[in-house]
Amino acid sequence: MSEPEDRTVVVTGGAGYIGSHTCVVLLEAGWRVVVIDNLDNSSEVAIDRVRELTGADADRCAFVEGDIREPADLDRAFAVGDAAAVVHFAGRKAVGESVDHPLWYYDHNVGGTVCLLEAMQRHGVRDLVFSSSCTVYGEPEGVPITEGMRVGAQSPYGRTKLIIEEMLADVAASEPGWRVALLRYFNPVGAHPSGRIGEDPVGIPNNLMPYIMQVAVGRRDHLTVNGDDYPTPDGTCIRDYLHVVDLAEGHLAALDHIDRLDGAIAVNLGTGVGSSVLDVVHAARAATGQPIPYEVGPRRAGDVVAAWADPTAAAELLGWRATRTLDEMCADHWRWQATNPAGYAS
Ligand code: UD1
Repeated sequence: MSEPEDRTVVVTGGAGYIGSHTCVVLLEAGWRVVVIDNLDNSSEVAIDRVRELTGADADRCAFVEGDIREPADLDRAFAVGDAAAVVHFAGRKAVGESVDHPLWYYDHNVGGTVCLLEAMQRHGVRDLVFSSSCTVYGEPEGVPITEGMRVGAQSPYGRTKLIIEEMLADVAASEPGWRVALLRYFNPVGAHPSGRIGEDPVGIPNNLMPYIMQVAVGRRDHLTVNGDDYPTPDGTCIRDYLHVVDLAEGHLAALDHIDRLDGAIAVNLGTGVGSSVLDVVHAARAATGQPIPYEVGPRRAGDVVAAWADPTAAAELLGWRATRTLDEMCADHWRWQATNPAGYAS
C-alpha cells in the first residue's frame, strides 16, 4: 500500500466546520487534500487557516470552488490529483430549514451524493467516508445507542442522511471493491485548540454550543433552555457532545482502517458520555468566566430526551476513541469565539 504522503483525498465540504478540522488532521497525517466546496455556508478563509495551521501550500491543500451537483466541478476536483479516497461532508444540515424546504434538502444532500458517486465511478475511486448523523436513530430504542438499533429519521434532513446511507449500501453491494464508512456523528462541538478555525453559523445558531458561546461573547443576551421538565436528572435533554478534533481524527481512523470494511458499514462516533443542557451551561461558565444567563422556555418540537453513543464499534473496527473532555470542548470553542467574535468575518 502506498504511504499517505503519496495519497490524495477529495474532501467535499472541506471549508465547513467539521470538514476544515478534518483537513487539518489529514494533512498532518501526510495526506494530500483536494477540497471541493461551494462556499454556500462556509468561508474560503477556513482553507487559508487550514494551510496556515499545517504549513500546506495550495498544492498539498488544493481548493476547488464548486458544487457537487455539477459533474464538471467534481471532474475539476478529481483532476487535481490521483484520488485514492473521498471524504464527503458537503450538504445542508438544519432540521427546521429542511422541514420548510424539503426539495432543496433532497436536491443538495441526496442529489449531490448521486453526482458524487457517479464522479467516483468515472474516476475509479471506491473508498468513501460519509458524514452521517445520529439523527438517523430518531427517538432511539434505548441508550447507549448501538449501530444495530432501529433507524427512522424524524425530519427531511434526517431522511436525507438515511436515504444516502441506504443508497451507499446499494452501490457497495452492486459491484465489488467499494469500501464505505458511514460515520454517525453525535454532537460535534469545540474548535481547533489554536482558535484559528471553528464553527461559524450563519444567523441565529440552532445548536446549543454555538448559541451559548455567542451569549458568552456578548452577541446575544441569554440562552433559552428548551424545556426543563424532561425525565432526566435535571429535567433537560441529554446529548453526547464530542470534540470536533476527536471527530476529525475519526475520519483519519476510518481511512486508515478502510481495508477492514467490506461494503458499507455504519459506525457511531461519540464519547459514550451523556451531558444535559445545564451540564453544558455549567462547563461553559467555567471555561469562559462569563455568567451565561439563561431562561427556561418551552420544549423544542422534535427533540429526543436522551441520546448518547455506544462507541465500542468505532474502537474495535477503527481503533478510534474520543479522548477530549467537555471542559476542553468548551475551552477550545471559547478560544475560537473570543478571538473571532463574528466568525471568519471578524
Ligand atoms: C440537532 C439536530 C440534529 C442535527 C444536529 C447537528 C434537531 C432536533 N436535531 O441535534 O438532527 O444532526 O443538531 O449538530 O434539531 N438547546 C437549548 N437551547 C438552544 C439550543 C439547543 O436548550 O438554544 C437544547 C436542545 O433542545 C437540545 C440540546 O440543547 O436538547 C442540544 O441541541 P442541539 O445542539 O440543537 O443538538 P441536537 O438537538 O442533538
